[in-house]
Amino acid sequence: MSGDGWIRQVSPMIGEEEALAVHRVVESGWITEGPESAAFVEELKECVGSRFAVLAPNGTLALALGLLALGIGPGDEVLVPDLTFAATANAVRLAGADVKLVDVEPVRFGIDPDGVEAAIGPRTRALVTVDVNGRGADYGRLEPICRAKGLVLICDAAEGLGSRHAGRKIGSFGLASCFSFSANKTITAGQGGIVTTDSDALHGRLRELKDQGRLYGGTGGDDLHPVIGFNFKFTDLQAAVALPQLDEVEQSLRRLAARHPGALIERKSCSVCLHWRRVSAAQHDATGRDRPAVAQHHAGVPGRHEKAGRKLGRFRCYRGQPHLSNDHAAGVCGSP
Ligand SMILES: Cc1ncc(COP(=O)(O)O)c(C=O)c1O
Repeated sequence: MSGDGWIRQVSPMIGEEEALAVHRVVESGWITEGPESAAFVEELKECVGSRFAVLAPNGTLALALGLLALGIGPGDEVLVPDLTFAATANAVRLAGADVKLVDVEPVRFGIDPDGVEAAIGPRTRALVTVDVNGRGADYGRLEPICRAKGLVLICDAAEGLGSRHAGRKIGSFGLASCFSFSANKTITAGQGGIVTTDSDALHGRLRELKDQGRLYGGTGGDDLHPVIGFNFKFTDLQAAVALPQLDEVEQSLRRLAARHPGALIERKSCSVCLHWRRVSAAQHDATGRDRPAVAQHHAGVPGRHEKAGRKLGRFRCYRGQPHLSNDHAAGVCGSP
């Protein structure tokens, strides 16, 4: 319980190590995106298992940057799950594309693959999945659908850093994944976000779009700006806060593995969610649906309940979506 009498659902894993790191960066005289950010990117790539990672000011802008870099914009339509934080759909609008909301599965809360197939139209260019509380969407079905229909799959993994799904790391599905470092995420930089990808071409596009069209910045007055870009930069102050927390992600997973020998984390039939400093694991049954959690650690706080209020189709700005059944709009679904 905090001093003000509230039981906090989550509090940042920041302390002396982060404070010392910020002090070191301030003393270095380089506070914008530079060497500390580069070190953070290297460690994050290892944590996610991606070849490339490009920092952004927050998770919303990481997703918008990813969409822009993929050439998605006005005239395009993007499929988005109905149950998510508004940022997912708002990022699509920021890129200039239209949002088509699709129902989620009632148990796993990921976008419903049948709903995706039904919603694809002539203007549909991309699918944005959301890994709610670190639970992977049904990628076993969604990846082949996207391949068959020529859709770009981009994952809003804002809530999923460190989580595993079906033997793979969240962040390893689709063409790109976007993470958030806001205060209630697995690790926090105050604000911050990152796009991860294995694609060389996408990496180049992300780099130039985030830095005023420069592929290589910081050359002084002779910088080259061959294409139009913007400013989606991070700062070394944020990187100093975020970097030490990555160790805790690995340690949490190691603790889970030690308590549950038998490589629970790597098993294809399991989801391991690292969300709000809690590690939980759920076993999938033969149909891929989750059974009740088989392990929960770092407890002491209640899990989040996914209320119908998180459903975007209820808000005026996203109302009137033809593909929503809203059959669980009044329901309350428990987190893992
Ligand atoms: C699913 C989801 N997408 C996107 C975001 C946006 O991230 P940010 O707050 O860093 O912009 C969040 C969290 O805030 C989120 O939970």
